[in-house]
Amino acid sequence: MKFIAFSVRDDERPYFEQFEQKNDVKVTLVADALTKDTMHQAKGYDAIIALQTGQYPDELYGFMAEEGIKSLAIRNVGTDNLNLDLAKEKGIIVTNVPAYSPAAIAEFSVTQLMQLLRNIPTFNHKIAQRDFRWAPNIARELNEMTVGIIGTGRIGRAAMQIYQGFGAKVIAYDPYHAKDLEEQGIYVDTLQALYQQADVITLHMPGSKHDTHMIDADAFAMMKDGVYIVNTARGALIDTKALIAAIKSGKVAGAVLDTYEGETPLFNHDWSNKPVQDTTFNELLALDQVLMTPHIAFYTTTAVKNMVTIACDSAKSVVTTGDAPTRQN
Ligand code: NAD
Ligand code: COI
Repeated sequence: MKFIAFSVRDDERPYFEQFEQKNDVKVTLVADALTKDTMHQAKGYDAIIALQTGQYPDELYGFMAEEGIKSLAIRNVGTDNLNLDLAKEKGIIVTNVPAYSPAAIAEFSVTQLMQLLRNIPTFNHKIAQRDFRWAPNIARELNEMTVGIIGTGRIGRAAMQIYQGFGAKVIAYDPYHAKDLEEQGIYVDTLQALYQQADVITLHMPGSKHDTHMIDADAFAMMKDGVYIVNTARGALIDTKALIAAIKSGKVAGAVLDTYEGETPLFNHDWSNKPVQDTTFNELLALDQVLMTPHIAFYTTTAVKNMVTIACDSAKSVVTTGDAPTRQN
């Protein structure tokens, strides 16, 4: 059996090698992303293992069907950049890794929020300038706040437990209610109710096309003054221009952003020696109230090992049985 893996980083190589050793599978590792120009490298392989935040090309599915490659195994959670209808039509079985480490993302999102709440970026800057004064950077306490979680799946639930550990009041919105959370009275009925009650709003839902710019100027208008926004889900869920305006007006006190709607050409690339032309992104980065990271919430040793291993296991299952593995997680 022969697989080809795209967008492979050095930190993933040991886990691919471990998979090869434990299984009778040869995996060819390629640093390039999977595009319509690179997909032809997959000719002659049984499965494609991929990872990227940009759109997978529509041509990919027809190419795979023609070449008899049935398995497209992505080694991450989100499937928002795939054309799943077209994949189905072409008989391609797409698998993801639904739970490589929900805790990794949840821990990161709460850590970043705490940094903003306690003004740590500002104090880091002041310390570097030898300014050791306290004022005016007095903080608010998380235990006195209401945290609104949008999406109570694996990551949202993990975040919920951490927030509850801090003593915060947690409310949540999700169109699908989990019975145990419903019994605890966690859910509000509408997004509007969550916007009106929450001091912190944290997104843990998929980036489906239907929810693009769900958080727009109208949504911000419904929120409390001085609200904090946390987005480790998908950049397109937030209308970035509306967010910038809401920060500038003081409606939003701070934003933790690990994702950005135009992130694909920027994140995990070195832009230190060239100007970024995306003016919205530059405006966002210039705001003190924004704590931006380049989509690293997932980036832990545990997560990376699971992403590689589970994606390869899924591809092997599709190639040998013709079907995706059934998982309980
Ligand atoms: P999940 O499938 O376990 O949970 C998603 C939840 O969102 C579900 O309960 C679903 O019912 C809910 N949902 C769907 N549409 C909604 C809507 N319109 N409003 C409110 N809730 C809605 O997924 P997860 O593992 O918790 O991951 C959530 C998202 O986090 C992923 O889809 C991905 O986009 C993102 N993610 C980011 C990183 C990162 O490194 N930053 C890593 C992994 C996942
Ligand atoms: C995901 O798993 O959905 C992520 O956002 C991680 C990223 C490396 C694609």
